[in-house]
Amino acid sequence: MGDRLGILGAGKLGTTVARLAASAGWDVLIADARTGPMIELIVSTVASGARLVGVDEMLTSSGIVLLAIPYSHVSDLDPEKLAHAIIIDATNPWLEADGANPPESPLRGRPGIRLVRSLNHVAYEELLAYAEPAGAPFRMAVAVASDDVEARGEVAALVDALGFDPVELDGRSAWLLDANGPFFGRRLSKGEMTAVVSASRRADRLTW
Ligand SMILES: NC(=O)c1ccc[n+]([C@@H]2O[C@H](COP(=O)([O-])OP(=O)(O)OC[C@H]3O[C@@H](n4cnc5c(N)ncnc54)[C@H](OP(=O)(O)O)[C@@H]3O)[C@@H](O)[C@H]2O)c1
Repeated sequence: MGDRLGILGAGKLGTTVARLAASAGWDVLIADARTGPMIELIVSTVASGARLVGVDEMLTSSGIVLLAIPYSHVSDLDPEKLAHAIIIDATNPWLEADGANPPESPLRGRPGIRLVRSLNHVAYEELLAYAEPAGAPFRMAVAVASDDVEARGEVAALVDALGFDPVELDGRSAWLLDANGPFFGRRLSKGEMTAVVSASRRADRLTW
C-alpha cells in the first residue's frame, strides 16, 4: 500500500490497529504519553512493524491519525496540531475512565478538523480475532462515519486493509457507533450492518 498511519495511544486499541496496519503494508507511526523501555518493549512485541516516535513527530508526519486515547484526554490535545491530517476518533466515553458526565468531544464540529468516526464499536479482541482478507465469506463490517466524503473514503480504505468491510455513513449516523449503540459487541456483515442502519435511521438524532 505504501500509506502512512499515525496512532496516538499505544494501549490496547492503538497497538492492535498498529499491528494489523503494519502487517497490511502501511507505514505506522505510534506515539504515547508514556516513554521509556517498557513502552518500547510493548510496541516492538505487540505491534511489531510499527515505529514508536514522539507525539509531535507522529502528528506532523502522518496523513491519517487515529486517536486511541481515553475519551476525556482528547480535550488535552492542541487542535492546531490536528488540523493537517484526517483524524479518526475511535474514542468512547467510558464510565470507569471518564466519569458519569463526560463533556462532548471538543473536536466535533470544530472548523479545520477533518474528523471521521470509526472503530468505536469494535473491541480490540474482535479486531485481532476477526480480521480477514477482502472477499472472505463472512467478513465483519466496521462503520466509518463522517460528512467529509474524501476523508471517509481514505479511512474506509484503511479499514479494508485492516481486514474488515467498511460501511460508510454520513455524520448524522455517527451515533450508531456509540458504545451502547446497535453495532456494539455484534459481529455484523456489511449486509447486516446496512440493514441495521436502514432500520435505525432517525434524521433528528445527533450524539457526537
Ligand atoms: N480497547 C478497545 O477494545 C477499544 C475499542 C474501541 C474504542 N476504544 C477507545 O479507544 C480509546 C483507547 O482505548 P484503550 O482500551 O486502547 O485504552 P488504553 O489501553 O488505556 O490505552 C490508552 C493509551 O493512551 C495513552 N495516552 C493517554 N493520554 C494520552 C495523550 N494525551 N497522548 C498520548 N498518549 C496518551 C495512555 O497512557 P497512560 O496509561 O500513561 O495514560 C495509554 O497508553 C478509548 O477512548 C476507548 O474508548 C477502545
